[in-house]
Amino acid sequence: MNKGIVRPMLISDLEVILEIERISFTTPWSLESFKAELKDNEYARYHCLELDSQVIGYMGLWFILDEGHITNIAITPNYRGQHWGEFLMRTVMEKMMSQGMERITLEVRVSNSQALSLYKRLGFATAGVRKGYYADTGEDAIIMWAELVRGVNVT
Ligand SMILES: CC(C)(COP(=O)(O)OP(=O)(O)OC[C@H]1O[C@@H](n2cnc3c(N)ncnc32)[C@H](O)[C@@H]1OP(=O)(O)O)[C@@H](O)C(=O)NCCC(=O)NCCS
Repeated sequence: MNKGIVRPMLISDLEVILEIERISFTTPWSLESFKAELKDNEYARYHCLELDSQVIGYMGLWFILDEGHITNIAITPNYRGQHWGEFLMRTVMEKMMSQGMERITLEVRVSNSQALSLYKRLGFATAGVRKGYYADTGEDAIIMWAELVRGVNVT
């Protein structure tokens, strides 16, 4: 398997990122939303996954005090199911741990079995449900947390 590279997202990546975003989510973020995150949000940490000089995925989070709040993660469809999402998350979580992050959270649609499987593999556990969280379908969100201090998730 070729080696993936995880690096900070740049404004120049946004054209490709938006393509992946639009095919991955029913309510995709706009170019302006991504730009605001990269330029104006001091808590935002956005990373790209590059393979053979091509961006195939990305992950964003807010790093507040010792907590991470994942805002989005996506892998371009042709590369899904090959554990690139796992590689991206593990790499970003390791990097954030080295900067003092102790726990990390996310919300996921109850129907998103592939994402749920990935998160459980990484040590995320269900902490609650937000009823009707997703405005487009009224679907519930599962709230998940992972403790990073024990180091079990990222080894
Ligand atoms: C969620 C997502 C980032 C996972 O990335 P990935 O690289 O596919 O993740 P992995 O390969 O590590 O794990 C995906 C799981 O789905 C399974 N899977 C099988 N076929 C698959 C396919 N065609 N696409 C995706 N996942 C597939 C994998 O085998 C794995 O399950 P397992 O734990 O039983 O082995 C990716 O599917 C994606 O971009 N989805 C659309 C955006 C999205 O839903 N983001 C999450 C929002 S909370």
